[in-house]
Amino acid sequence: MTSTAQAQQSGAGTAHPEHLGHVVFIAAAAAMGGFLFGYDSSVINGAVEAIRDRYDIGSAALAQVIAVALIGCAIGAATAGRIADRIGRIRCMQIAAVLFTVSAVGSALPFSLWDLAFWRVVGGFAIGMASVIGPAYIAEVAPPAYRGRLGSFQQAAIVVGIAVSQLVNWGILNAADGDQRGELMGLEAWQLMLGVMVVPAVLYGLLSFAIPESPRYLISVGKHERARKILEEVEGRSIDLDARVGEIESAMHREEKSSFKDLLGGSFFFKPIVWIGIGLSVFQQFVGINVAFYYSSTLWQSVGVDPTDSFFYSFTTSIINIVGTVIAMIFVDRIGRRPLAIIGSVGMVIGLALEAWAFSFDLVDGKLPATQGWVALVAAHIFVLFFALSWGVVVWVMLGEMFPNRIRAAALGVAAAAQWIANWAITASFPSLADWNLSVTYVIYTAFAALSIPFVLKFVKETKGKTLEEMG
Ligand code: GLC
Repeated sequence: MTSTAQAQQSGAGTAHPEHLGHVVFIAAAAAMGGFLFGYDSSVINGAVEAIRDRYDIGSAALAQVIAVALIGCAIGAATAGRIADRIGRIRCMQIAAVLFTVSAVGSALPFSLWDLAFWRVVGGFAIGMASVIGPAYIAEVAPPAYRGRLGSFQQAAIVVGIAVSQLVNWGILNAADGDQRGELMGLEAWQLMLGVMVVPAVLYGLLSFAIPESPRYLISVGKHERARKILEEVEGRSIDLDARVGEIESAMHREEKSSFKDLLGGSFFFKPIVWIGIGLSVFQQFVGINVAFYYSSTLWQSVGVDPTDSFFYSFTTSIINIVGTVIAMIFVDRIGRRPLAIIGSVGMVIGLALEAWAFSFDLVDGKLPATQGWVALVAAHIFVLFFALSWGVVVWVMLGEMFPNRIRAAALGVAAAAQWIANWAITASFPSLADWNLSVTYVIYTAFAALSIPFVLKFVKETKGKTLEEMG
């Protein structure tokens, strides 16, 4: 019997609604890591000016303090897979929660600039871990028919985390009369912005005690009984549990012993599937999505938005980001990952090309002419909308599900590490590229969005509705 037939016979594609409620809770709790990922990576925006002022440093040093956290993310992502395979998915979440908590406290109360940079790296490490463990864990507990939608919780939590950090920063700044260094509760406003993260970090840690270990991990360490119970909890009694456990186990046997070496093979160091994961990650970043988030105020000002209103426009981008994510959640299990990615790439090409066109006009007093200014503003929103309804969700969902069981955590770790390095490359190069020629910068991002289409068509296989055991 083929594994599809076996999966269908064992009812793998469906879940009873009463179990679905439980699975939704589990996925949402695990996605708290995504919330912290979004929150922590964007909260720094509200604090940068104060940090520059407090430590009296130039733009280059400031950019390093910000970018260094991304290196922490890459290391955290690269190691999370191994940690998760050794000690389990849940313990890995707990370590990340502790690191998020100490980094929030340390960054809020630094002794020096070096100390601050150190705690940002620790926070980055936690973000990297969370970026791997969330998608892997959710894919491993979700029933196949809902896996795309449940996997999208991670991206939904990331985008909500970004939006909430903007709101919190705005609230704190207002309470401090618009001064990032204004005193509030014995701290300067920027310290409070960084410190508030303790709340979701502790919540993440507590929630991790309320959710079960991944059945696939349990089977990999020989704890079949426990795995059976959890499978029953999440997929319901109607499925043939023996068949499911047997299927997962035999898929694990088919694959070799798990180690970093299992990721290697073929003529290009890594196995092709690992390269496809890396490709998805790199394209997701090389379209320049985080320029839209990390440098938004600079962009708004060049299209003529008053600095005090730039918060508002950054927030509208976040709302569009959330709307796009919801659209993706509705469609990811219906039309599939590949079509969504292609639709998104086409929309991103249009948005980015319009931005390239608008910024090809000369700035007058640091601003674009009125028409081009509006085009740039609308184009930026079109770009974020199409990113959110496609590559934002699709990449994190696919990275969680596309690799064979044995190498999932480790391969996802490598792909996510590549993503953080790509994020760093784009973020760190943008200021110089923009000084040189903003229009050409957007042409480069447009080219990557266009290239992502043949990449998906040629290399990416549809994963909708399949069991994880069929991915091999
Ligand atoms: C995805 C990207 C992340 C980006 C976010 C924006 O999660 O991986 O880098 O900040 O989307 O919504």
